[in-house]
Amino acid sequence: MIALITGANKGIGHEIARLLGERGVTPIVGARDEKRGREAADRLGAPYVRLDVTDAASVAAAAKQIEEEHGRLDILVNNAGIIVHGEDSRPSATPLEAVRRTYEVNVFGVITVTNAMLPLLRRAPAARIVNMSSELGSLTLTTNPDTPWYDYVELGYNSSKAALNMVTVSYAKELRDTPIKVNAANPGYCATDLNAHQGFRTAEQGAAIAVELALLGDDGPSGAFLQDEGPLPW
Ligand SMILES: NC(=O)c1ccc[n+]([C@@H]2O[C@H](COP(=O)([O-])OP(=O)(O)OC[C@H]3O[C@@H](n4cnc5c(N)ncnc54)[C@H](OP(=O)(O)O)[C@@H]3O)[C@@H](O)[C@H]2O)c1
Repeated sequence: MIALITGANKGIGHEIARLLGERGVTPIVGARDEKRGREAADRLGAPYVRLDVTDAASVAAAAKQIEEEHGRLDILVNNAGIIVHGEDSRPSATPLEAVRRTYEVNVFGVITVTNAMLPLLRRAPAARIVNMSSELGSLTLTTNPDTPWYDYVELGYNSSKAALNMVTVSYAKELRDTPIKVNAANPGYCATDLNAHQGFRTAEQGAAIAVELALLGDDGPSGAFLQDEGPLPW
């Protein structure tokens, strides 16, 4: 099986690629920076493709390269994601530019990559798309004062992951009469560069749910939001 993982040069994406490799999948390391990407791919003994999810031309070139080198795609993990911190995190003080930049990667990037890769995914017997979401995108959890996420208000990031959840559901609906399954994964709070390594889980632990959804059987769900313990509320 052939998998493309975006943002696989480090963090959770790198672990997803490594773990998929251990399961016999060929994990194509997608990364926007050629040096970082090639180094990561070499570490894994995996192929590399240059891909900046905010650059449609680079995404189209990546799809062409994958088509030429592999002919199809069995798994797409939309993992690349960013958080843009400002000095003042109040929504009213958050520069629109920071929100826009976040959406370019976390939402529009996912749509760009998914659309570009769909023709290759349709060629696989039963492709899987996994979108790396977050519990911070759950309206139910973030509006419940009894959860640790209630007080964490990050306008751009949280709303981008909520949007990504709806993107996930929308593609799952379009593809419901095909063997392709589309799900959102919550890795939990993992120590990576994204949070200056504050997370209490490892990147490997965060990668596990994405790997599970990437290798989901035909009886598995589509249009679901899942973490290790099971479904999350939207
Ligand atoms: N860590 C957590 O606690 C946590 C919790 C919930 C959800 N998540 C989600 O999990 C995913 C992975 O996060 P992480 O914690 O592993 O973060 P990370 O260590 O910061 O890695 C993010 C990856 O995304 C890549 N990336 C950023 N912008 C890109 C672009 N325009 N095109 C292509 N790649 C791009 C980065 O590449 P560069 O090295 O070139 O910047 C890097 O490889 C994200 O979607 C994040 O929102 C993480």
